[in-house]
Amino acid sequence: MRILGIAGSLRRGSHNRKLLRAAGRALPPGAELVEWEGLAGLPIFDEDMELDPPQLVQDLLDEIEAADAILISTPEYNASLPGGLKNALDWASRPFPDNVLKDKPSVVIGASTGLFGAVWAQAEVRKVLKASGAHPVETELPVGLADYAFADDGSLNDPELTQRFKDLLADLVREVTAPVEV
Ligand code: FNR
Repeated sequence: MRILGIAGSLRRGSHNRKLLRAAGRALPPGAELVEWEGLAGLPIFDEDMELDPPQLVQDLLDEIEAADAILISTPEYNASLPGGLKNALDWASRPFPDNVLKDKPSVVIGASTGLFGAVWAQAEVRKVLKASGAHPVETELPVGLADYAFADDGSLNDPELTQRFKDLLADLVREVTAPVEV
């Protein structure tokens, strides 16, 4: 099973990229995480270009299409998702409704340096995914106080959060193998 991972931050040392990589290591056997790193190079969405998109956009669409599921790790910027991530999702949503996100199992996780672990941003990403026709798992993974949340090996320090993390990833894999009817 191929899971496409996208971190919503471009920052060197991003907590969300670290969280994405931790997810790659915590996936159940048989599932592989492939990281997509093209976010910084994407042009701003332009409806005039959606039927003949630039190559990097096409690469994103191809990667999403080839993936069994999507895993997004999002920071929270001003109580919402980062613009670059929204831009990527806007490209991926077109042409609607027969886009590459249609019926795609997905899960959203997030880390922030504040207390609440990017819960608003995660909810917004799930909202955008649903509006685009994807099937996001409705559970969040809030990693708050992210400066202190990771061990040296990149795993999460909090055992309870680690268990929630594993359960959420298992839910995603279940969604691929035995999708819940909606
Ligand atoms: C933030 N941050 C932030 N955190 C939060 O919990 N709620 C918020 O609304 C915001 N808003 C916000 C806006 C902008 C422009 C920046 C740069 C930052 C803090 C954010 O959680 C922190 O920078 C994270 O470390 C960003 O994620 P990465 O880059 O570590 O993955």
